[in-house]
Amino acid sequence: MSKIFVDACLGKKTPYSPVWMMRQAGRYLPEYLKVRAEAGDFLNLCHNPKKACEVTLQPMDIVGVDAAILFSDILVIPHEMGMHLEFVKGEGPLFKDPITNEAEVDALLGGKEAAEKLTYVYETISLIQKELAPDKALIGFTGAPWTLVTYMIEGKGTKTYNLCKKLLYTQPELMHKLLAKVTQVVKYYMEKQIEAGIDVVQIFDSWAAALEEDEYFEFSWKYMIEISDYLKEKYPNIPIIMFPKGIGQYLDRIEGNFDVFGVDWSTPMELAKEKLGDKYVLQGNMEPCRLYSKEQTTKSIEKINNVMQGKRHIFNLGHGILPDVPVENAKHFVSECQRISKN
Ligand code: CP3
Repeated sequence: MSKIFVDACLGKKTPYSPVWMMRQAGRYLPEYLKVRAEAGDFLNLCHNPKKACEVTLQPMDIVGVDAAILFSDILVIPHEMGMHLEFVKGEGPLFKDPITNEAEVDALLGGKEAAEKLTYVYETISLIQKELAPDKALIGFTGAPWTLVTYMIEGKGTKTYNLCKKLLYTQPELMHKLLAKVTQVVKYYMEKQIEAGIDVVQIFDSWAAALEEDEYFEFSWKYMIEISDYLKEKYPNIPIIMFPKGIGQYLDRIEGNFDVFGVDWSTPMELAKEKLGDKYVLQGNMEPCRLYSKEQTTKSIEKINNVMQGKRHIFNLGHGILPDVPVENAKHFVSECQRISKN
């Protein structure tokens, strides 16, 4: 059976533009909160294939999205490279011993060895594929090496990226060494996700906008392309979505072997279409806070659809859904995308 989401990623004609939401299995859903409480905490939930499968599938029935996204986190990668990860309540992720020097980079577990430790992710994928409706797709994902190393060096989320940028500008070779090591793990990790059964790959570069243009292409995009080239050579039929957040100013230099470009909400869809619409399918880009108002949601979907006309387009939020959005409004978003883009 064909999957509308996969068809759309490959640029095929579809009856409407499919839709999914980042963080669609998350805290706005009471059903998610219940399973997370049973698991103890967020990381235990990621480590428990049965429960991770259960929460992955929740938004399929509850909000009616066209694709499931694997329930996990980008930071399980550095965790399995040997950096102990915690999620501190109300504060987000924390690595207590961030990377500060070359010896610590060398001590990280690399390549296949690290990727092989992520067995709980591959088990979750196999379980999901047994239960997912045949016309729905499963999105697997990774963080871009740059976004991952920001957490590995800062130890947590940051507004200034000062430790990271200090390393980048004072020891660029060491930064490249760390990025290359992470890239190697990600290649094997995504290959194993594909072997376990994901239909589509998404690479999240959430902190792309922290870098100047030339530095962005040198320290981030280059490694994302290395990953997509590696995967495309082995698995040409698995679509790849690139999502570098906040680099609307750099679109002229975006090229490479992938299928879908994720447009964040700060980049006008018209601009993305003009610069990239012939080369790539575009995904995006409603500002997630519009979900607080059903009227504003519909208005935004209509505006995006006027630009994309139901062609070579996937609806998505320009970032994650927030925990205090009413479930009803999320359902409204999904059904309105499907209605308005109907050909
Ligand atoms: O539904 C989905 O999108 C799939 C699951 C998913 C999660 N994290 C679950 C999660 C995905 C794709 C991610 C990616 C991720 N994780 C990114 C890239 C995308 C982005 O958000 O920009 C980043 C930077 C992270 C790191 C991370 N994980 C942070 C900064 C936080 C804290 C912020 C927050 O929203 O609480 C997390 C925690 C996290 N990851 C939650 C979920 C559902 C919330 C945990 C909880 O249940 O309390």
